[in-house]
Amino acid sequence: MKHLVLIGMMGCGKTTCGQILSRRLGLPLVDTDQLIERQAGCSIPQIFARQGEDAFRQLERQVAHRLGETGGCIVATGGGLPLQPESMAPLRRSGVVFFLRRDPGLTYDTIDRSNRPLAQQGRAAFVARFAQREPIYQAAADYVIDCPASPRQAADRICALWQQLEGSSCP
Ligand code: S3P
Repeated sequence: MKHLVLIGMMGCGKTTCGQILSRRLGLPLVDTDQLIERQAGCSIPQIFARQGEDAFRQLERQVAHRLGETGGCIVATGGGLPLQPESMAPLRRSGVVFFLRRDPGLTYDTIDRSNRPLAQQGRAAFVARFAQREPIYQAAADYVIDCPASPRQAADRICALWQQLEGSSCP
């Protein structure tokens, strides 16, 4: 079975949506940021502060490569993972990719920014970063899920699509 891969801007609801999908579909949830933290033995802000973004992206590539050799998981990705083709390629090969598209201004106003190094430059920079990334998310995705309301609504739509793709039931 393929992975069900969630991509999108930081704070768009990938983890929450992933948790709902994991319960409903009975598939394990894997979070690339958590795998990186485990491998590095420290938090994402610490990796950025001590080693820089390039080192973080390298860890991200390693984690994506390993996931590409397996299947059958809900994979919640870090928001910047699709920017690196070398990270996205193994996930595209091994999974079906859903882009959770949420208004970036709304996202900025509601997320916890304290543990997100790339959300520290203010609202306008966050919105501009989304504008820059959106075409990349679109190109990487098999499906675009608009989720203005809630991760639950997004999960409902993804569940219905997954059911069609995999022929599995979706409680
Ligand atoms: C990042 C998003 C974060 C995390 C890191 C970089 C990004 O994950 O991977 O801080 O470049 O958008 P979330 O999308 O889970 O916040």
